[in-house]
Amino acid sequence: MKKNIKMKKAFYLFLTLLACTTIFKASADEGMWIPLLLGENNEAEMQAMGFNLTAEDIYSINHGSLKDAVVIFGGGCTGEIVSDQGLMLTNHHCGYGSIQRHSSLEHNYLTDGFWANNQQEELSCPGLTCTMLVRMEDVTEKVLEGVEDNMTESEREEVISNNISIIKEEAVEDTHYSALVKSFYYGNKFYLMVNEIFTDVRLVGAPPSNIGKFGGDTDNWMWPRHTGDFSVFRIYVDQDNNPAEYSEDNVPYTPKSFMEISLKGVEKDDFTFVFGYPGRTQEYVSSYAVETITQIENPIRIKIRDKALNIIGNAMNQDELTRLQYSSKYAGIANGWKKWIGENKGIKRLNAIEVKKEYEAEFEKWANSHPETEAMYGGIINRFEEIYSELKTSRRNQTYLFEAGFRPDILRFASSFRNLVEISEVKETDIAEIDEEVQSRINATENHFKNYNADIDTEVFAALFKIYITDLKAADYPAILNDINTKYNGDTEAYANELFRKSIFSSKKKTIDFLKKYKQSKYKKIIKDPAYNLISAIRNHYFQQVLPKVEKYDIELDSLMRLYMRAQMEMDPDGRFYPEANFTLRVGYGKIDDYLPRDAVHYGYFTTLEGIMEKEDPAIFDYVVEDKLKELYSTKDYGRYADKDGSMHVCFTASNHTTGGNSGSPVLNADGQLIGINFDRNWEGTMSDLMYDPDMCRNISIDIRYCLFIIDKFAGATHLIDEMKIIE
Ligand code: ARG
Ligand code: GLU
Repeated sequence: MKKNIKMKKAFYLFLTLLACTTIFKASADEGMWIPLLLGENNEAEMQAMGFNLTAEDIYSINHGSLKDAVVIFGGGCTGEIVSDQGLMLTNHHCGYGSIQRHSSLEHNYLTDGFWANNQQEELSCPGLTCTMLVRMEDVTEKVLEGVEDNMTESEREEVISNNISIIKEEAVEDTHYSALVKSFYYGNKFYLMVNEIFTDVRLVGAPPSNIGKFGGDTDNWMWPRHTGDFSVFRIYVDQDNNPAEYSEDNVPYTPKSFMEISLKGVEKDDFTFVFGYPGRTQEYVSSYAVETITQIENPIRIKIRDKALNIIGNAMNQDELTRLQYSSKYAGIANGWKKWIGENKGIKRLNAIEVKKEYEAEFEKWANSHPETEAMYGGIINRFEEIYSELKTSRRNQTYLFEAGFRPDILRFASSFRNLVEISEVKETDIAEIDEEVQSRINATENHFKNYNADIDTEVFAALFKIYITDLKAADYPAILNDINTKYNGDTEAYANELFRKSIFSSKKKTIDFLKKYKQSKYKKIIKDPAYNLISAIRNHYFQQVLPKVEKYDIELDSLMRLYMRAQMEMDPDGRFYPEANFTLRVGYGKIDDYLPRDAVHYGYFTTLEGIMEKEDPAIFDYVVEDKLKELYSTKDYGRYADKDGSMHVCFTASNHTTGGNSGSPVLNADGQLIGINFDRNWEGTMSDLMYDPDMCRNISIDIRYCLFIIDKFAGATHLIDEMKIIE
């Protein structure tokens, strides 16, 4: 008996230690660190791991540093500047939209690739921006000025947002910069980011998709990988080197600093770091949050997307035009789907929920051991448990609604006519304003139908709504969907066919005809349209039934997380805590590393052109290899880009902690030279957004030598190579 208790105690201690190491004593590889604080937090460790430079070389406001060569590319990726003329690298999948917009059946840059022969041929990309961090500053004190402990959450919000407005205004006074204040550590810290936003960004080059997207969605999130996932852009500015809208008079940007490129290649255990914009991670949340994500949300998302992907995928396999039209949509749906599958497997393998629960038990013991901490933190874990259990049904409803109710294209498209309805409903609205909106709808309609097939959408619609009304109780989905049961005998296909037949939004001709003859009073026809009517009902259901039930908890969860985060840091005063990712500039560092994905299997840390030839299959879309590439392979014409082993390295893995948003991030060596471009993570490691595992989590990068080899030998764009500073 006694022995039993002792053993239990020992086991308990073991689990606690395990929990602590997983969550806190971030292995050297875990963490996305704030560039401004590298000096105090990380420099020594980085140098001990092999880093040859200083924190100042990465982030400095006094002289040019690496940070001046890193940008947010578009709305969700990272890019890096690699020449003194604003030349920039990012991923192919980040440039995809811009490449697609310049593509037509005559000039199919997606399929064939694109290379500007000179700067005059570089293509402007309206709407595409690059955002560069000028400086960041800890403004926590100023943000929290006037905040009292006894304030309600909304009072607190008000004080904070007023303070933030003032801080932002002061920060950019008399400059062309823009400012942003973001919360870190769940509202315990605030940083000001002063940014410079460049609005003339041009497409310079992109490899054909069977290089840039080699392996497609089949290989996505997987290792071994052979994707040449890069594209090339350039930032243009006015004569004074300042951001400006597109103009013929604009000139290439002269950066404060740009990245040098190393041809030395990588070896196992080499020090490496990633410098970019990770989007969102949640390492510090409770076991109950992880349970909700992995046991409620992810399975629903996976199930519904599975269905949609099946339908779209089959259609793409049958028809070339459909493939072109749907490849981007498919990739978007598939990317999340596959990530969540991997995430769930990883969380299970790590036993993450149990590990977190053990940690929470330890936390409670600590919290309850002193009256002060008990008063402040004593009830947190219980409250998490209560909230997540009360939230269950609403979260489930919300996830179904997002994934099924909002998915069919016809509904999204119909929904985009809301503004036209709203301004038309108001009698006094200016005719000019309505005309302008009608014109913008006409343009949007042209765009929408370029990549649309009503038959596919009907099928997706029917299948998704079938799941929606089968899996949920009638009280939990929008009442309008009862029609399917009462009028169509539960037959979602018949319901879909009828809706698509009656709606103008299933047809380009009907929509354009309607818009061309539009008069203010015609908004009534939109309101009566079955697709518009349905999406309005779904929206109303969301805003009236679903959102209020989750919102009040979400607000409480925000304030609980703020407390819980603070408490976790207090409990472990020597712990080094990196803030959760929030799409601000971060440094992740680790080493070039292989891994053991499962029993008896060892994955090497790099891939080569050999592997592309092994995967080659002219009959499978994802594995077609360009003739020119085969030719270069057979003659081994790799030039100075070959590895010292004689082969052409394509991708490599490392233990840098990354997430979505890090796509396109520079991967640098110990000397701060560019050795790769980050574009993915391994499937076994995707749970790092919730819990990092140093043995399993790897980021995947394209070897910069493969990128240059494609630019130089494959595309012959040697003028771009000449612009770069290449270290042999
Ligand atoms: N998984 C990568 C990321 O999360 C690449 C996605 C694009 N590629 C694709 N085949 N869908 O963004
Ligand atoms: N492909 C991701 C992106 O677009 C990066 C992969 C990840 O999630 O780590 O940002």
